Amino acid sequence: MSNSAVFPPSREFVRNAHVQGMDAYLDLYHRAEQDPEKFWADIASQEIYWFEKWSKVLDWQPPFSKWFVGGKTNVSYNCVDRHCLTHRKNKVAILWEGEPGDQRFITYQELLRLVSRFASVLQSRGYKAGDRAVIYMPMVPELPIAMLACARLGIAHSVVFGGFSGEALKARIQDLGAAIVITADGGFRRGKKVKLKPAVDEALVDCPDVRDVIVYRRTCSEIAMKEGRDHWWHVLDEGASEDCPAVPLDSEHPLYVLYTSGTTGKPKGILHSTGGYLTQTTATMKWVFDLHDSDTYWCSADIGWVTGHSYIVYGPLSAGATTVMYEGALDYPNFDRWWRIIEKYRVNIFYTSPTAIRSLIRQGEHWPDAHDLSSLRLLGSVGEPINPAAWEWYHRVIGKGRCPIVDTWWQTETGSIMIAPMPGAVPLKPGSGTLPMPGIIADIVDLKGIPVGDDHEGFLIIRKPWPSMIRTIWGDPDRYHEQYWGKLPGIYFTGDAARRDADGYYWVLGRVDDVMNVSGHRLSTMEVESALVHHPAVAEAAVVGKPHEITGQAVCCFVTLKKGEWDHEALGKELRQWVAHEIGNFARPEEIRFSDALPKTRSGKIMRRLLREIVTSNTVSGDVTTLEDLSVVTKLAAQHDED
Ligand code: PRX
Repeated sequence: MSNSAVFPPSREFVRNAHVQGMDAYLDLYHRAEQDPEKFWADIASQEIYWFEKWSKVLDWQPPFSKWFVGGKTNVSYNCVDRHCLTHRKNKVAILWEGEPGDQRFITYQELLRLVSRFASVLQSRGYKAGDRAVIYMPMVPELPIAMLACARLGIAHSVVFGGFSGEALKARIQDLGAAIVITADGGFRRGKKVKLKPAVDEALVDCPDVRDVIVYRRTCSEIAMKEGRDHWWHVLDEGASEDCPAVPLDSEHPLYVLYTSGTTGKPKGILHSTGGYLTQTTATMKWVFDLHDSDTYWCSADIGWVTGHSYIVYGPLSAGATTVMYEGALDYPNFDRWWRIIEKYRVNIFYTSPTAIRSLIRQGEHWPDAHDLSSLRLLGSVGEPINPAAWEWYHRVIGKGRCPIVDTWWQTETGSIMIAPMPGAVPLKPGSGTLPMPGIIADIVDLKGIPVGDDHEGFLIIRKPWPSMIRTIWGDPDRYHEQYWGKLPGIYFTGDAARRDADGYYWVLGRVDDVMNVSGHRLSTMEVESALVHHPAVAEAAVVGKPHEITGQAVCCFVTLKKGEWDHEALGKELRQWVAHEIGNFARPEEIRFSDALPKTRSGKIMRRLLREIVTSNTVSGDVTTLEDLSVVTKLAAQHDED
């Protein structure tokens, strides 16, 4: 990729920005580098309300960090209550549009009422700080309301993306030891009612510890309700109280666990805690999205992923924004649905994924051109590297050449944005996340931890702890240590390959481990493999990500079969469906290739590297990313494999 195209911010953008010009960015960066504890303490005091101040900013016993030790705060209070004491009381907090076109405009005052009512329902059923709740809902306001109600009482929540199957839901409920599931009858998707509750029923057959299921009525679909266990949200709401104050919680109190794919078949529960997470998500809202009080901000992600947690719910609400939420598909009823929403609500800041951009490019410019997108002033990208063609289209067709694009690199584990431009300060280079946020000490190193120097590819690492970092893997501190801090002792290993150019700009190339990135969603090869080998016909399976023009990567499976007569075509279909049932529809393989044997090392390890090369060199299309980048990732992945 060429490093030559540079887009400095316009004078007008700089004039109104929170961080104005490169010197202002460098000043923040250097202050944070010189005295990180003072830097973060100042931000935590300015941005967050504390019931009690901390006694120590950071307690770092590698790999375990505690931030704002002894401080007491509450995420729900910061996202809701405190705004009701200001001019924001009647400001729209959540601006929601359902797929059928229904709308809700929930002000901060109304949000306080709704969150308090639901928290009082949870409280009256005996739930309290230390308990765990699983939330499995469509994109309706009651999803963030449920999250905020849990946070209000100190109940750690785990939101499971609605696209996961009952099997995947079960594994998460069991791992978390959740006592309550909050769900809905279903949601709307491409004009159809998609049921959710049956997957909960399927999961709960093997989850005896779940005492209550609360069901929000969205679609009025026919669903089964189990006497004694299942309750309608609206029925419980009848007896709810509006007086349910936020509980002052320790800064390190668990806020949520979000499951993500690792390099084994078992998903990892990434634990985030309270004070540090809130401080950094709030700060990055201002730095990266240059959020102003008058902005209407829209992140098109699903709240089931970390992007939605940090940048639809917690970051924007803590910063007092109007955050837009849309329930449905981007192509329903037509390919201009998103552009209609931007025009209708005069959206100023829009944050989405390269996969979505690529799928919209395919439909042609006439869809966005038919709408007035002049309210936009800033665009964002997240989840995967953005290729030059997608960047150019996003910039020209959506941003009309006026809007900076913030390409934000981060991970479920990092909690908030780590590498991204401050749009009023840092000149953009298409395809680069540009420079690290203040307080983030990144580098690119080889497997011994030695910096590779400018313009060389290596492993992206972070040297120092940061407030919104993962605290542990739920129930598995050893895995946490080994996966993130054990490869290079005392250094956080991101699992990504990257290079840094002579201007210090970071170019993230892709994963070096067995994690695929499909439509910006992380999926482990082992998770799909273990689903496949559960099928009675399958002897062995090896799964690799294959370059895909729209989704970045697609799931490609190599399968050997047990002895017998098999109809490959029918079995291929069945296996694709099988994976969708075991994990979720989004994991459905693009391709199943049957083979007599899989390539293995002498010690019997499947050589995924060869398979990756087969699928890569077979199909690579220059538009997705460059061949050079892919070969680098393959090479680094091989080193990592052999380590
Ligand atoms: O490989 C990187 C890629 O997504 C991974 C993190 O995935 P997840 O935890 O699901 O979080 C996605 C949303 C934050 C990273 O290890 N990734 C994320 N953002 C970018 C990216 N790759 C390149 N550029 C990005 N902006």
